[in-house]
Amino acid sequence: MKNDEPQKRGMSRRNFLLLSSGAVGASLLGFDRATTALGQPGTEFSESSCRKDGKMNRKILVAYASRCGSTGGVAEAVGQILCTAETAVDVRLIKNVKDLAPYQAVIVGSAIRMGKWLPEAAEFVKKHQETLVRLPTAYFMVCMIIQEDTAPKRTEALAYLDPVRKETPGIQPAGIGIFPGAVDYSKLSFLFKTVLKAKGTPEGDFRNWPAVKAWAAGLRPALLDA
Ligand SMILES: Cc1cc2nc3c(=O)[nH]c(=O)nc-3n(C[C@H](O)[C@H](O)[C@H](O)COP(=O)(O)O)c2cc1C
Repeated sequence: MKNDEPQKRGMSRRNFLLLSSGAVGASLLGFDRATTALGQPGTEFSESSCRKDGKMNRKILVAYASRCGSTGGVAEAVGQILCTAETAVDVRLIKNVKDLAPYQAVIVGSAIRMGKWLPEAAEFVKKHQETLVRLPTAYFMVCMIIQEDTAPKRTEALAYLDPVRKETPGIQPAGIGIFPGAVDYSKLSFLFKTVLKAKGTPEGDFRNWPAVKAWAAGLRPALLDA
């Protein structure tokens, strides 16, 4: 309709487009939250408990949030590296973690969607912040922006954590891991496929296992010798 033309309402075309894409983003976020809070239908989410024979005296929790499963694989790889004769590791979906009492250190990981941590991951950190302030805590995120690993992309990806850190200033993470993830268009709705294709997000599994394992190994002293 002619009356809706941006110029006629004193708005430049560029601002109109920015506003429109903001509105689309906001409604996509709402859609994402409402329809996929439990994950993409048909996706399997990995959980495990690792205990090696030995004098186990510590337990680490790796809690993660995911929609299409790739973050679970990263959480498992982190857990495998941290599991030793002295240290047991539970890898759990965040929605299944009720109590942090059994753990001496916690790692929280989230997939990134629309520039944000998944809501249950952000809420988990906020809800448990009094405990996490006292425990060695680390964060990781799995996202596609870092598929091209450059300093500006890392800075951009790190900013995804800003809202979480702003809400929980007392938590000083012992480490922050940023890892490329995976995109399988067959698991996505037409809407999300269209958004990702428009952004030029490639399809494939870009998880970098050596990088994940190196990060977890480097984290061990900070988590366990604290
Ligand atoms: C709808 C949608 C939005 C996404 N938004 C972003 C984003 O803003 N930034 C980014 O780096 N990656 C983004 N990604 C890529 C995901 O973070 C990546 O595919 C990740 O591996 C998904 O984790 P999951 O398989 O555990 O759900 C998005 C993916 C989807 C499907």
